[in-house]
Amino acid sequence: MTDDVLVVHGGTPLQGRIRVRGAKNLVSKAMVAALLGDSPSRLFDVPKIRDVEVVRGLLGLHGVKVTDGDEDGELVFDPANVESASTDQINVHAGSSRIPILFCGPLLHRLGHAFIPDLGGCHIGPRPIDFHLQALREFGATVDKTPEGLHLSAPNGLHGTKFALPYPSVGATEQVLLTAVMAEGVTELRNAAVEPEIIDLICILQKMGAIIKVHTDRVIEIQGVPKLHGYTHRPIPDRIEAASWAAAALATRGHVEVLGAEQADMMTFLNVFRSVGGEYEVTDTRPPRPGQPGQEGGIRFWHPGGELQATALETDVHPGFMTDWQQPLVVALTQARGLSIVHETVYEQRLGYTEALNTMGANIQVYRDCLGGTPCRFGRRNFKHSAVIAGPSKLHAADLVIPDLRAGFSHLIAALAAEGTSRVYGVDLINRGYEDFEAKLADLGAHVERP
Ligand code: EPU
Repeated sequence: MTDDVLVVHGGTPLQGRIRVRGAKNLVSKAMVAALLGDSPSRLFDVPKIRDVEVVRGLLGLHGVKVTDGDEDGELVFDPANVESASTDQINVHAGSSRIPILFCGPLLHRLGHAFIPDLGGCHIGPRPIDFHLQALREFGATVDKTPEGLHLSAPNGLHGTKFALPYPSVGATEQVLLTAVMAEGVTELRNAAVEPEIIDLICILQKMGAIIKVHTDRVIEIQGVPKLHGYTHRPIPDRIEAASWAAAALATRGHVEVLGAEQADMMTFLNVFRSVGGEYEVTDTRPPRPGQPGQEGGIRFWHPGGELQATALETDVHPGFMTDWQQPLVVALTQARGLSIVHETVYEQRLGYTEALNTMGANIQVYRDCLGGTPCRFGRRNFKHSAVIAGPSKLHAADLVIPDLRAGFSHLIAALAAEGTSRVYGVDLINRGYEDFEAKLADLGAHVERP
């Protein structure tokens, strides 16, 4: 365990510039989509994170040749020889990520059967896959749950269907898209998720030859086609990582420019950032001109001095405030004057990390009630899913154990904002979603070291 600890000497504002690459929650799905093509696909700006390695491994096991392209972060996928893999081989990836569930549709199309190992991902609630399985059955797949994993087959092929999701789940929407594009006939998905990562996945599928209409009111219509080809795509930047660094700048009273950050995908975050007293400036990308080099744009985030103000926010599906922005921002809210209220409506157990912040001096109470305007699915189900944060609190150093990816980053921010030396255990988990975070911390002047 000792080599998985980061010693953080806190109290220094983060200052400098870092860059975000393709969004973790798009890139991994774009990789799965490459399975559907009958010619190679090319994906740029792929971050070096654990989820990408897991998907790369699974694609390799299924005969997709994955190679590094010429550009740093470019991956090329050749699906010419898609083949079955043994359950033992696939099970090597059991418990490592949630992405394997999205292999169902593409593998059923390519092979007629699929085996999906036990899923991993962060422990932020039960995270069932009932919507996924219900949708797959609607398409005509048979699903056999066994102790070793899921066995699926489609003896009569996959057929378009009309289906409404009980909740606009990101993963289930992606499941339907990746299955419907090559299913026979038309699929109409109601109550779909419309996160920017989903729209980008639709762009990729469209480049491959799919016919997909995004209607108003969360309705997506997909006309199945018999064949798709490869794509070339530069993904949208990681708006969760960008917001995480923004929150770190605010909590440490620093100033961080996040190159690559995209304003349009972060509007809701930017409004909250400003309302608590943070400042930001959107810097535009300038293409090179004769005699002048180009410049990559992004967003500069900083703490303007003085006090931050408390706020009330509810996490929600897009275009609401992302659940993944919640944990990093709450660390900054511990520094705001007054009572901040956070109502988490996407995951039922995403506030557990606040206990660690309290051991560092924060004053956060969690409640089972819906402390917000929107009654959510968790209000009557006994989940502590609302938080009241009283601030400002002086944070002091502590020994922390990272529970999950986003909470992990918030622990890190808290340690950076706190006076004194903290030890953060389990930091390796952060590599699941944040590329080179230690190098980026060094670039921002953080005093961190491996013991
Ligand atoms: N849900 C069900 N049944 C299902 C699917 C989802 O009840 O079959 C529920 C979930 O339990 C949850 C809600 O629906 O309460 C939303 O879950 P969703 O399916 O939207 O989440 P996901 O696809 O599993 C992705 C991201 C998450 C992000 C959520 C919400 C990936 C790999 N993960 O998860 O990202 O929080 O959407 O935007 O894309 C992260 O990056 O740290 C992360 C957890």
